[in-house]
Amino acid sequence: MTGNVRRNCDYMEPSAKDPAKIQSMFSTIAHRYDLLNRVLSLGIDRSWRKFAVGQLPKTENAYYLDVATGTCDVALEIVNSIPGSRVQGVDFSTGMLELGKEKVMTAQLTDSIDLRFGDATALPFQDNTFDGSIIAFGIRNVQEYKKGISEMGRVVKSGGRVVILEFTSVQNRIFKPLYRFYITKVLPSIGEIISGKKGAYTYLPQSMLSFPAPDELKKTMEETGLQNVRYHKLTLGAVTVHVGSVP
Ligand SMILES: C[S@@+](CC[C@H](N)C(=O)[O-])C[C@H]1O[C@@H](n2cnc3c(N)ncnc32)[C@H](O)[C@@H]1O
Repeated sequence: MTGNVRRNCDYMEPSAKDPAKIQSMFSTIAHRYDLLNRVLSLGIDRSWRKFAVGQLPKTENAYYLDVATGTCDVALEIVNSIPGSRVQGVDFSTGMLELGKEKVMTAQLTDSIDLRFGDATALPFQDNTFDGSIIAFGIRNVQEYKKGISEMGRVVKSGGRVVILEFTSVQNRIFKPLYRFYITKVLPSIGEIISGKKGAYTYLPQSMLSFPAPDELKKTMEETGLQNVRYHKLTLGAVTVHVGSVP
């Protein structure tokens, strides 16, 4: 895997999810990532993460893995909502991890959250390590996403769960045209203004629209060996939370 590169990048076409370009893109927008999240999701993103975290199995002194942890919003949500829990966060963008580390330090949660550089498709952890693994708005960016899901299952103990929170395409007949207009026209313009990077947010709608539909993702999760896979659509289907159990 390539190291992280702090340089301006030419933003990729949706099909070209070259890991080096994805790393570079996230490091470039890292400083504005949280603000962009709040603005572009109209502030709803927090409740989506909360719901996804709620799907993790609760055990005493639980230990979870947050894949593609970015600026650590999911990791922080976990330790704040599940007493006694610890989280290992992993991401391959050092720019995002730096901001995550600052947030964890500010929240004085360095005893509960540890961060590590790593690739979702080759997780640097042994089998059966965690009680649950979660990925929020990350799997869409992983070129070999089936491998990523398989890795998330490998590192979780039997009886644990894999949780995936990701954008999906709204199918509601009334809202679909409005949604498409928002993500293809409004969202890239706001993203460009806030991030100060031309084209930074054209990748987001492209990746959202090209990601597999919920049933297809469910099938892929089952193919990796996960059981009782189910999904929950939130906010008219703008995002979906998939949950699978590790046999
Ligand atoms: C949209 S951000 C999501 C961050 C965070 N999970 C959240 O809820 O805000 C996507 C993150 O996925 C990371 N990422 C993408 N592909 C990855 C991979 N193959 N391995 C590790 N991290 C990856 C990026 O570096 C970025 O931090």
